[in-house]
Amino acid sequence: MKRARLVCLISGRGRNLAALLAAVADGRIPAEVVAVIASRADAAGLALARAAGVESEVLAREAFAARADFDAALAQRLRKLAPDLIALAGFMHVLGSDCLDAFEGRMLNIHPSLLPKYPGLHTHRRVREANDAEHGATVHFVGPELDAGARVIQGRFTIAADDDEVRLAERAMNEVELKIYPQAVAWMARGELALVKGQAHFRGRRLDEVMTMDDLEDAFR
Ligand code: GRF
Repeated sequence: MKRARLVCLISGRGRNLAALLAAVADGRIPAEVVAVIASRADAAGLALARAAGVESEVLAREAFAARADFDAALAQRLRKLAPDLIALAGFMHVLGSDCLDAFEGRMLNIHPSLLPKYPGLHTHRRVREANDAEHGATVHFVGPELDAGARVIQGRFTIAADDDEVRLAERAMNEVELKIYPQAVAWMARGELALVKGQAHFRGRRLDEVMTMDDLEDAFR
């Protein structure tokens, strides 16, 4: 199978990036990581990319006064890389029209909440404060609105009485994010996922319901 050209965008620690790199290295994701781009020079995930022998570079958000200028520079850089898919992995910026016009339908994001609940920041704290019974994470296509693009797969777990904000973040990461994101990126790389008129399609069929952990292939459980 032809390997898809994958670019990962990060801003921070890079635990999701590490999971993607591992799944590429062991062949579960049929892709070649052509670049990791960080929006911060101090993103710890850059070291992971280097250790994996992957091209990495910094496009610092702070070097641009306006969000639109950062977006335009990022779109220009991405065009040169000619990615088949772009995985936002802890990338803490909303993409604008330059990136969307060029790559909508090829960009996935992972968000630590049961979207549509809790788009934006501090999801774990908000879940705790609301006394929710469940929490989780969602992979979705990137669209013009924050954390609101078509959902692909979502994993959930029951919150325990003593799960504080930190513990909820750990559980969302370890029990859900690190499983569903490599799976979703693998589906994309294989050409099994598509965005058609704003709706997620899987293996040629519209996804009427977001997929769940039950849909994970064994290699991603
Ligand atoms: C993850 O919780 C991800 O869902 C969110 O930001 C966090 C990034 O963590 N978008 P990491 O950089 O993957 O460690």
